[in-house]
Amino acid sequence: MAFEKNILCIGAGYVGGPTMAMIAHKCPQYRVMIVDIDPNRIAAWNSDTLPIYEPGLDEIVKEVRGRNLFFSTEIEEGIKEADIIFVSVNTPTKTFGAGAGMAADLQYWEKTARQIREASHSHKIIVEKSTLPVKTALAMERILTSTANGIHFDILSNPEFLAEGTGIKDLENPDRVLIGSRETPDGLKARDELVEIYANWVPRERIITSNIWSSELSKLVSNAFLAQRISSINSISSLCEKTEADITEVARAVGMDSRVGSKFLNASIGFGGSCFKKDILNLVYLCRHYGLDEVADYWAGVVKINDYQKERFILNMLGAMFNTLAGKKICLFGFAFKANTGDTRESPAISVSRRLVEERAKLVITDPRALINAETDLGDIKEKIDFIEDPCEAAAGCDAIAVMTEWEIYSALDFEKIYKNMRKPAFIFDGRNILDHSNLFKIGFNVFPVGKPPLTHF
Ligand code: NAD
Ligand code: UGA
Repeated sequence: MAFEKNILCIGAGYVGGPTMAMIAHKCPQYRVMIVDIDPNRIAAWNSDTLPIYEPGLDEIVKEVRGRNLFFSTEIEEGIKEADIIFVSVNTPTKTFGAGAGMAADLQYWEKTARQIREASHSHKIIVEKSTLPVKTALAMERILTSTANGIHFDILSNPEFLAEGTGIKDLENPDRVLIGSRETPDGLKARDELVEIYANWVPRERIITSNIWSSELSKLVSNAFLAQRISSINSISSLCEKTEADITEVARAVGMDSRVGSKFLNASIGFGGSCFKKDILNLVYLCRHYGLDEVADYWAGVVKINDYQKERFILNMLGAMFNTLAGKKICLFGFAFKANTGDTRESPAISVSRRLVEERAKLVITDPRALINAETDLGDIKEKIDFIEDPCEAAAGCDAIAVMTEWEIYSALDFEKIYKNMRKPAFIFDGRNILDHSNLFKIGFNVFPVGKPPLTHF
């Protein structure tokens, strides 16, 4: 069959894989190719064990792989054949030189732009899917038009808003799809072409368009606003712990104001994930670059509160367990940065583990999907840690359980049995407020939720 369009995606990660699988699934008339420099990742996408865990993804990939979705390491070949190229490479925080620890590291992205320029023989639409600093499209245009071969490129910004764990649902039924373009006749034509792709399954009123800079900036600001809500509620959780107020009750009362809304008000151990911190730091860096120090300080506060929340969790554990964790055995329930993913990037569990080992506690880590990543993240201290998949087995002989990830399976466990097999006094620190605290207290546990009065037998 002849395909209507050849779509290429450069970068087969958490975004590239699922977004392209969804386009292939919804649009059998297009041929979708995903390329990556990492041959192991591509081999995994072509195997029965996909490189990422995302509910619903396996089914879609199995349906479309080999039909109109293909995974390959042949990047040049892919560029040559493509009409539209999505760039979905990683854009981590820079770790060296100017802007280290704040700015986005654009080396992967720039390399891609150069590769596209070298391998292209015809006009192409280039879509920024990665999250990038505002004005990046300008640099991309400059790189792409820096040879005199006469090939025309149109650059669009089309940031991705999916959240891991609900990625397939988010892609199938997005709140909005945002497409930013230059407001020239060519820019608008390219924009309309991308609108047509999404219109295969997304209602038109949810496909919004803007100028290219607004689109780039909206992605950073969306993540900053979401993270800000978590830091806001987490900051109040510390006040609740001092005042006998209950953070769940406060969040419910605040969230029922329709102007505020109820989502993203779950107090926690702190937000993790590969993007919130990196994107806020990037926003802070941009503000400083433009001399907006007050604005930069405001957003930097969101990250500061997040670090404070993680450290507060450790200090609460220390205080509750008689000011010493040395030699105590602590079981972390969950290591992924959130439920329904195996992703551990920037997971609060990483810093909590390191701090507990610093306090000379013995660690046991359990997680249904993230144990392999946990072992890699803690590679330098892994001989001090046991990694056990079964949570009941993991908790046996421990002094305390600390809930790091809100996996549903944890609330359904037999805590009577778990309690029997733990050392006494037994503690539970619920960093996600997902367990039945009064029941745990009745069983005999000393229970320390986030932002609620503790339930203790002392
Ligand atoms: P990722 O690290 O999972 O995937 C990026 C992939 O790009 C890797 O497989 C890497 O090998 C590949 N790559 C790097 N340079 C390349 C090159 N020159 N040629 C070919 N392949 C190359 O990253 P991700 O989580 O998918 O994130 C990608 C972008 O999307 C980031 O900018 C991120 O901020 C943004 N984003 C991520 C999410 C998310 O949920 N993870 C959501 C929205 C937006
Ligand atoms: C987030 C955004 O939600 C996506 O819209 C965005 O596309 C993505 O970042 C990105 O740019 O990478 P993600 O990080 O996958 O998605 O997951 P979230 O559901 O946002 O959770 C982030 C962190 O906040 C997790 O650690 C989660 O447990 C925590 N969280 C979330 C809370 O502590 N409380 C809440 O109420 C909600």
